[in-house]
Amino acid sequence: MQIVRSSEELARARASLTGSLALVPTMGALHAGHMALVAEAKQSADRLAATIFVNPAQFGPNEDFSRYPRRESEDARILEEAGCDLLWLPSVSDIYPDGFSTSVHVSGVSDRWEGEARPGHFDGVATVVAKLLLSVRPDVAFFGEKDFQQLAVIRRMVEDLNIAVEIGAVPTVREEDGLALSSRNAYLSEEQRAHAVALPQALEYAREVIRGGTPVRLALDTARKSLIEAAFSRIDYFALVDARTLEPLDAPAGEMRLIAAAAIGRTRLIDNLPL
Ligand code: PAJ
Repeated sequence: MQIVRSSEELARARASLTGSLALVPTMGALHAGHMALVAEAKQSADRLAATIFVNPAQFGPNEDFSRYPRRESEDARILEEAGCDLLWLPSVSDIYPDGFSTSVHVSGVSDRWEGEARPGHFDGVATVVAKLLLSVRPDVAFFGEKDFQQLAVIRRMVEDLNIAVEIGAVPTVREEDGLALSSRNAYLSEEQRAHAVALPQALEYAREVIRGGTPVRLALDTARKSLIEAAFSRIDYFALVDARTLEPLDAPAGEMRLIAAAAIGRTRLIDNLPL
């Protein structure tokens, strides 16, 4: 596996890779969720590249950028074992050199939910993902359904800007009890971790009762209450949305997704389920 840092090193390493190329962009602290993307990507092309970059532009001023877990050498070892050919580990100044002035804003699909709770977040995501895709030039890039709105924002951007890449989506990988794997789960105390399972349980509850014909608003209200009872301190949203536009639905229609974000102590968790 070639490990590169600067854009110049990346360009040379990229030119040396022949055949089709798959990319998995990450912020590191790799877990089995990331590795599911890596495994899919490995199957889908001749060569596999990954990036690890904790992107300051997608963190708000009071968010966890400085304490976000960083495990570069461990991550590199895991990627090498998984058959990764190229790992790009840019620094902040490689991605945002002096004078960097461009921002990619995807309106509509990024306006609500995460976009509302984390102002500027999706501009940071879209800008860095555009830069990663244009720098690495993969044939296909993989993203997780775990970050469902992010996936929708990236699909929209790639289509709107004619970026020549196919976007692959991978279902959410979960712990045995149902909690979605996330680098942020490491922030949870043992007690909070035990309570956190209420989030996927509330989504499953809402899915089952909506399928059974319970009115959407009632199902969502009951699910929200169950989170508060399970020691979640704040619910940013718990909604039924159109899977493509992310617009809220007050009755089942077409392809739908249940999406939620809630905080337990200082830790904010997100999750979603198809319906
Ligand atoms: P990060 O949180 O490191 O996630 C990298 C990729 O792994 C994303 O596509 C995410 O959806 C996926 N992922 C995370 N947990 C998962 C799980 N439990 N199951 C399946 N996939 C999972 O998302 C980002 O980084 C950044 O925003 C990034 C796209 C790299 C841009 O900075």
